[in-house]
Amino acid sequence: MSQERAILVAYDGSEIARRAVSWAIQLAKALGAKLYVLYVVNVPPEVRAFLTAGTILNEALKSGMKVLEQIKPDLDKEGVRYDLVVEIGDPGEKIVEFADKINADLIVMGHRGLSGIKKLLVGSVCDKVIKCSNRPVLVVK
Ligand SMILES: Nc1ncnc2c1ncn2[C@@H]1O[C@H](COP(=O)(O)OP(=O)(O)O)[C@@H](O)[C@H]1O
Ligand SMILES: [Mg+2]
Repeated sequence: MSQERAILVAYDGSEIARRAVSWAIQLAKALGAKLYVLYVVNVPPEVRAFLTAGTILNEALKSGMKVLEQIKPDLDKEGVRYDLVVEIGDPGEKIVEFADKINADLIVMGHRGLSGIKKLLVGSVCDKVIKCSNRPVLVVK
């Protein structure tokens, strides 16, 4: 039996990322794929060292889940199979790593996100994923 298709959408709570989620939902439905919605709690490396199994880690995971819960109604309404995933670390790196872990057929993300800095063609997280992942990336505007 062939492996189930998987689509990864990166969500940071921004309006553009929400549009990326809408696209990912429609694609998952059309392809019969499972959707993984990933939010990365951006914790700088020097702070990460203190994030041992304690309360701070739990708080970070909880705050991440809150961000993902914003889009739960959209996902439930569309009846698509999905998982909500929170990771902690560098967003670009974690998105690339997680896509490999689930063997994603496609990564969907916004061209910009929360910072919305317009100097570069795309935001820095988007840029890193396009450069570092060898998987197809759909950049939603
Ligand atoms: N912390 C994050 N967790 C998950 N996805 C993210 C995160 N940060 C950014 N993204 C994804 O990358 C896209 C582009 O964001 P980004 O490159 O950070 O641009 P900006 O500099 O405007 O914030 C977002 O629309 C979202 O899909
Ligand atoms: Mg950003």
